[in-house]
Amino acid sequence: MTPSTQRRWLVAGRPVGRPLVDADFELANGPVTAPSVGQVLVRTCYLSFDPAQKSWMENAASYMNPVEIGGVMPGGGVGVVAASAHPDFEPGDTVFGQLGWQEYATLDGGALYKAPPGVSMSAILSVLGSTGRTAYLALMKVGKPVAGDTLVISAAAGATGSLVGQIGKIAGCRVIGIAGGPEKCAWLTDELGFDAAIDYKNEKVRARLRELAPGGIDIFFDNVGGDLLNDALARLALRARVVICGGISRYNHDPRSPQMPEGPRNYFNVVFTGATIQGFLMPQYERDYPEADARLTEWLRAGLIQPRADLLEGFERAPQALMRLFEGRNVGKQLLKVAEG
Ligand SMILES: NC(=O)c1ccc[n+]([C@@H]2O[C@H](COP(=O)([O-])OP(=O)(O)OC[C@H]3O[C@@H](n4cnc5c(N)ncnc54)[C@H](OP(=O)(O)O)[C@@H]3O)[C@@H](O)[C@H]2O)c1
Repeated sequence: MTPSTQRRWLVAGRPVGRPLVDADFELANGPVTAPSVGQVLVRTCYLSFDPAQKSWMENAASYMNPVEIGGVMPGGGVGVVAASAHPDFEPGDTVFGQLGWQEYATLDGGALYKAPPGVSMSAILSVLGSTGRTAYLALMKVGKPVAGDTLVISAAAGATGSLVGQIGKIAGCRVIGIAGGPEKCAWLTDELGFDAAIDYKNEKVRARLRELAPGGIDIFFDNVGGDLLNDALARLALRARVVICGGISRYNHDPRSPQMPEGPRNYFNVVFTGATIQGFLMPQYERDYPEADARLTEWLRAGLIQPRADLLEGFERAPQALMRLFEGRNVGKQLLKVAEG
């Protein structure tokens, strides 16, 4: 039985130029809205966390509708259809999409995707959805891996990075991950099959890249920016591809502050190597989502990709789950279990 009220997390602050704090969020009660024609009511089971959500709160992401103070915090999730006024969805269907931080979401059916059968809810969010689409499309369409390439990834033990490395192995690359701390590095090499890992918190990255990639880096998949990007640019191979997917080292800084990591110092190496630096933004690749979803589902079912969710539990912990990304506390995909599936 669907309740008439629910809990929701509202945006209460704009964290521009600073880390997130508890006061940026407000837990409030609100109504559960019955679906009108074309809409679906979804009971949220798991929420998914992405560093970009902070920039959504700042209204700094041009591809997102503005987020109002007092509005429901936007975010992806997976849930079960509780009621449907859309011909393609029935109660009991598992669906995923931008549910927002609320226990019940009323959305247009066109904004939801049906879950493939036999894939767990946490795997949907860690391997499919925006994380999987980003990892697959940014690597395949921008990085363009060729067997034998040396692929280096920053934030490699995070949700996107850990998938990029596994896809890179399937493509025949030699994969080197850069991550914070020995446990994360051991996970990459011992369990995910990366060829090597560099602990950027305890090792000299540029020297290690010289040792591990003597022929240079063919693809640098960047999630961090700043010093790690500089170090990678200094070690590019001829015709290297640099994929700018994210820049989390920048996200807590005001663009005008002296603490903001500057643009890459070693960019001129692009001239000597004939390399390409290209940005990637997932929504610009919407027509390729079916390809990404199909390949990732196939690899997941074949056991070629290992999903790893870092799972918190309890709707009231949503802000804490988001903050963990900026503290480097997550291994794999940060999720929050809100209710049973
Ligand atoms: N362009 C797109 O369409 C798109 C789509 C999705 C995600 N992204 C980007 O992809 C990146 C990864 O996102 P994700 O969802 O997969 O998150 P994630 O990698 O699971 O989590 C973030 C990780 O970043 C690392 N980190 C945090 N602060 C850092 C800092 N100051 N310097 C270096 N590393 C830091 C931490 O790992 P360590 O412990 O290793 O430091 C942390 O675990 C983000 O930059 C995100 O914005 C882009």
